[in-house]
Amino acid sequence: MATKPKVIVVTGAGGGMGRAIIEEQLKQGNLVIGLDLSITALSNLTHDSLQCFEVNVLQEERVNAIFQEIFNKYGRMDGLVNALGIAQAATPIEQVTMDDWNRLMDVNVKSLFITTKAVVPFMKKQQKGSIVTIASISAVRPRPGLQAYIASKGAAESFTRGLAIELAPDQIRVNTIHPGPADTQMLGQFAAQGADVEQTKQSVFVQSVPVGRLVKPSDIAGAVSYLLSDAASMVTGTTLHVDGGRGL
Ligand SMILES: NC(=O)c1ccc[n+]([C@@H]2O[C@H](COP(=O)([O-])OP(=O)(O)OC[C@H]3O[C@@H](n4cnc5c(N)ncnc54)[C@H](O)[C@@H]3O)[C@@H](O)[C@H]2O)c1
Repeated sequence: MATKPKVIVVTGAGGGMGRAIIEEQLKQGNLVIGLDLSITALSNLTHDSLQCFEVNVLQEERVNAIFQEIFNKYGRMDGLVNALGIAQAATPIEQVTMDDWNRLMDVNVKSLFITTKAVVPFMKKQQKGSIVTIASISAVRPRPGLQAYIASKGAAESFTRGLAIELAPDQIRVNTIHPGPADTQMLGQFAAQGADVEQTKQSVFVQSVPVGRLVKPSDIAGAVSYLLSDAASMVTGTTLHVDGGRGL
């Protein structure tokens, strides 16, 4: 008997990892809903099973309305993948402003609260669901000058663990992925102001990965796919390092 397509919501859909996650989920026959500030990057990805919303995920009411619309349409909500995020250019703490700090915390942490709070009532109704958040290996293997970004990713991991214990009785699994430095447009944004981005990628980031290459978005899509799947039905509250050994 063919399995029913799952309904999977992906934030950061227009980003490097978001797109790869969407492509993988579509390949598996699932119904995918992509959310991003800009979906222009997805304009060449048309598929009957893909619906995209251009939205700032920090707008709680709008996010709630979108989740309700999805549930009304499909009658289910199987997975949420929080793949949006912003980087911090390496900066000494004395030069980091309160606005910088607040922006990183808002986008990288408050957004998780908003999307998760929106999805949980639907998952509780069906007594099943999987939530996957893309954090960062930098949360446990830091690099100088990224203190606010690192704090936001540590919060993402703790939030996941807190929810995993809270939602386990409802059969809702909550997990984190810690990518290592990944080959997307975000990577260059971690370079210090004025630094040569391409050179930083090679001399700092590639060098830092024991297996000798950057993480590909498809590496993350594969890990997400596992955590969303029934093969991971006993996996909750965990953090999967997809980092080529960077965390060692
Ligand atoms: N690229 C890396 O080296 C790396 C390493 C570790 C972790 N990560 C994390 O992986 C995740 C995905 O990163 P990526 O490399 O695909 O980055 P990316 O910049 O390619 O994509 C991020 C996407 O998030 C979207 N976004 C940002 N703020 C938003 C908001 N308020 N509402 C809606 N959408 C918003 C952006 O528009 C963008 O499309 C992020 O959480 C990032 O912090 C990235």
